[in-house]
Amino acid sequence: MATYDIAVIAGDGIGPEVTREALKVLDAAGEVYGFQTRRIRYPFGTEHWLATKELFPDEAFEEVKGMHAVFLGAIGDPRAPVGLVEYGVIMRMRVGLDLFVNLRPVKLYDARLCPLKDKGPEHVDMVIVRENTEDAYTAKPEYQDKGGPNEVSSQPMRYTRKGTERIIRYAFDLTRARNKDKKLLLIDKTNAVPAQDLWTRVFADVAKEYPDIKTDHAYIDAACMWMVKNPEWFDVAVTTNLFGDIITDLGAMIQGGMGIAASGNIHPGRVSLFEPIHGSAPKYAGKNVACPVAAIMAASMMCDYLGEKAAAVAIESTVVDLLRSRRLKGVGTGDHATNEVGDMVVAEMRAVAARV
Ligand code: IPM
Ligand code: MG
Repeated sequence: MATYDIAVIAGDGIGPEVTREALKVLDAAGEVYGFQTRRIRYPFGTEHWLATKELFPDEAFEEVKGMHAVFLGAIGDPRAPVGLVEYGVIMRMRVGLDLFVNLRPVKLYDARLCPLKDKGPEHVDMVIVRENTEDAYTAKPEYQDKGGPNEVSSQPMRYTRKGTERIIRYAFDLTRARNKDKKLLLIDKTNAVPAQDLWTRVFADVAKEYPDIKTDHAYIDAACMWMVKNPEWFDVAVTTNLFGDIITDLGAMIQGGMGIAASGNIHPGRVSLFEPIHGSAPKYAGKNVACPVAAIMAASMMCDYLGEKAAAVAIESTVVDLLRSRRLKGVGTGDHATNEVGDMVVAEMRAVAARV
């Protein structure tokens, strides 16, 4: 039986609770579809940092490199300096494991989850491919006269041709494999940030190798507008790290909110990281009220990445059935206890498997 080594970092706030449910579903999927996971848990996160001043020790990092995937709950807690633990844990893996793809599907499963008027599942089905290792995120912050009257601070949007090309190529391949509208949209802000024309040029070059893919372009501000006005125009979109961060929160909202949106941080063929898009929501931590659907969808993405396609599809379609039949009353609406959602998904997935 296939066995996968999974590093589990449950993290801060609601992270441990939603992770527990996602792993419960993963275990059930493994039983039904014939695989198992061997899990190594790491305590990294704010609590661990407060207690030990340790973020992600090198020894653990080396261990993680040898695994098949990492599952992350959530990171972030106001008791640590802003960004410290996020950088020490999430960014450490994104950069250190060279997870250059941040894959963020935006798919509406049930019209009632969408805040847009007259839009249903047939209108909202896209994938945002966010570059994940460059841009201002990984540039050095610099200050002059810090705290003084002439202070200048900067952190450049920095792009390399190699980094740009590999993400654009990934997006073209995905658009082809997805085979929906075969349409790839480049999102940038070249009209105000001319250095981003590196993206324009590389996109045009790579496009020549994909004559079957229709290409389009939008500035990030307009893309935000179109996403709300005409989400049905989107198939796959590729963009920079910072713009991708922003537009995928917008995307999450039109698919039902932070309770459902999941993501993969991927380097094809290597250990990759799966996580819900939402944060740690410290205010709801430990109360068994957080919605674990996004984490469960991240587990589905992880199964897909590991090659367990049947399990990935089963997890996703079970959630969809529960939503459409209204047994799952909502995502992030507080209608269900955290553990109840995981139990429901497991029971339904087993029941469906038993019927076929
Ligand atoms: C995300 C998050 C992270 C990001 C934070 C926690 C650093 O917002 O995964 O979208 O900005 O990438
Ligand atoms: Mg974000």
